[in-house]
Amino acid sequence: MRQSSLVVVANRLPINDNVALDGACEWRRSPGGLVSALHPLLRHTPATWVGWAGGTGPAPTLPDVDGVRMHTVPLTGDDLRDHYEGFANATLWPIYHDAVEQPEHHRRWWDAYQRVNQRFAEATAQVAEDGAVVWVQDYHLQLVPGLLRALRPDLRIGFFLHVPFPPPELFMQLPRRAELLRGMLGADLVGFQRAQAAHNFAQLVTKVLGLPATDRRIAVGDRMVRIGAFPVSIDTNEMAALASRPEVADRARRLRHDLGSPDHVILSVDRMDYTKGIEQRLKAYSELLEGGHVKVRDTVLVQVAVPSRERVGQYQILRDRVEREVGRINGEFGRVGEPAIHYLTQPFDRTELAALYRVADVMAVTPLRDGMNLVAKEYVAARVDDAGALLLSEFAGAAAELPQAYLVNPHDLEGLKQGLLAALRAEPADVRTRMQAMRAHLRVHDIRAWARSYLSTLDQSGSLLTRLGG
Ligand code: ADP
Ligand code: F6P
Repeated sequence: MRQSSLVVVANRLPINDNVALDGACEWRRSPGGLVSALHPLLRHTPATWVGWAGGTGPAPTLPDVDGVRMHTVPLTGDDLRDHYEGFANATLWPIYHDAVEQPEHHRRWWDAYQRVNQRFAEATAQVAEDGAVVWVQDYHLQLVPGLLRALRPDLRIGFFLHVPFPPPELFMQLPRRAELLRGMLGADLVGFQRAQAAHNFAQLVTKVLGLPATDRRIAVGDRMVRIGAFPVSIDTNEMAALASRPEVADRARRLRHDLGSPDHVILSVDRMDYTKGIEQRLKAYSELLEGGHVKVRDTVLVQVAVPSRERVGQYQILRDRVEREVGRINGEFGRVGEPAIHYLTQPFDRTELAALYRVADVMAVTPLRDGMNLVAKEYVAARVDDAGALLLSEFAGAAAELPQAYLVNPHDLEGLKQGLLAALRAEPADVRTRMQAMRAHLRVHDIRAWARSYLSTLDQSGSLLTRLGG
């Protein structure tokens, strides 16, 4: 077994197998924030990525991707149902996102969560070199730091949570709250998107486990676990370079033409998830059409909503409701050849996404709750022309870093409508000033700065940073 001095452990590998219409299997970059953040960072770094390849049954052997070794962890059908779709995405996901949908609790799901976390910990223990740095990602694997420390006390273990970490009132609902906290405390560094999340965690370990904690460190026996906020970001330069390509500008022009050359294009790009506020946004747009504040001929909405977690009941219900509403709005307000909403569920390559960002006069990113939201950051990075208005939810982690966006509360329908109108009618000079400020922020706070800040806290020797290009 080849071993690495840097091991990233995430539920999903950065590529997914995708079965084409002719039945052929091809590998594609998986859509989602975690992969978007880590993929550009690790490219050409001698590291191993431990994760699931997206199917069930025996783990496929994958070639290295951009120099990163892929180590697949197999999931059975039961694991997929009870760990990924169950405990991770129907218990933890709603609790961590303000319980905007009702979390479900099943003892069988907890058994699967433990079993799959154990399998990930064992796979990681096999591929980590002596004294390696292991970076465990996200809520699917909260027990891995503790399990791995028991197997391999020589490792330096980091944990980073990409999603929000809830306030104690919500977390306390979890029947296995103590075990989940203990699992995370197996790490040397527990990182969150926001300082508030680190604060929630510190409060909980004191309340549930009786450990002395501040928002920076927690004493666990003779070990000191550090905690802190490390807002994740994107490869700003890469997106800006892509968006600057002449073929992307051409594609954006063609897209605008194909959309009927409207005065305003509003764009939203989400995974089909109830946390993303898609229904609230459609309602706001529909009421603006109904009230005559916007006209289909002048203004179109492009809603990209790539299906996600498709076997989870709440996601199926959401998709049905969104599709019914899109149909209703188009039926009521569209004309022949002029739909009110262009609704797309396909995964796009980065070039097409960059062209979509460049054609969007208003980018509507209005989740009810989101750990960060990298789509908002990608849009800003892509606007190399300093144009484009970002309408951003106050409940996205990105809002703390991009206060120059047009901020809205997506739970407030009137506020959402006013926010959309304000972004649509904004003076170009105002749009430009705001965009320039946000671009300046992201030039400095990019994915490398995130990795530097996290890894230098985790690995104080600094040797890792040198390998990642410091
Ligand atoms: P989440 O992690 O909840 O999915 P983020 O906004 O942080 O949300 O990240 C989503 C990532 O997935 C972004 O990098 C975005 O570009 C990508 N993405 C979203 N929709 C698509 C799509 N239809 N095709 C390709 N990539 C997509
Ligand atoms: O950050 C939230 C997250 O679960 C990430 O781990 C992942 O990138 C994204 O959402 C997509 O989710 P999934 O892996 O379930 O498709």
